[in-house]
Amino acid sequence: MKRDIRDDLIRQAIEIRQRAYAPYSKFLVGAAVRTTSGKTFLGCNVENASYGLAVCAERSAVFAAITAGEKQFECMAIATQGGAMPCGACRQVLSEFNPDLPIFIVDVDNPEKIVEGNLWDLLPGAFKLDEKGKGKKSKVQGPKSKAKAGNDEE
Ligand code: THU
Repeated sequence: MKRDIRDDLIRQAIEIRQRAYAPYSKFLVGAAVRTTSGKTFLGCNVENASYGLAVCAERSAVFAAITAGEKQFECMAIATQGGAMPCGACRQVLSEFNPDLPIFIVDVDNPEKIVEGNLWDLLPGAFKLDEKGKGKKSKVQGPKSKAKAGNDEE
């Protein structure tokens, strides 16, 4: 990993953090994920009056990448005040795509001091389905027609 690539990713995480919608916690988070194809996808946290609906910055970035058709992640930068580590839910989501993902943690108040980590150290025992489980068809069926929706006990 070239130094300037890392530093650029960190810079973008710091910048995108300003877009966070966090009127409830006031805790702004910015994330930037780089793919092996050399693209970068950004995310910030988005909160809601219904508190439990908040989406973290890391997952926003990952979902943006997936939506763009990219899922080979090379590294991620996360920017917060204090240099917070990613939450458990985000670790699990990141692990789906790269369990060894290098992560750069930056404290926006002290941006020259970067903590470099690896997802494997943060989540060594991530939940994973085996290949059989992954490809298995769901037995749960949706309603056969709109008219029957909500009345499908037969
Ligand atoms: N948050 C993130 O964006 N990423 C994390 O890894 C942990 C927490 C957000 C969620 C919420 O909007 C705010 O930080 C406070 O928990």
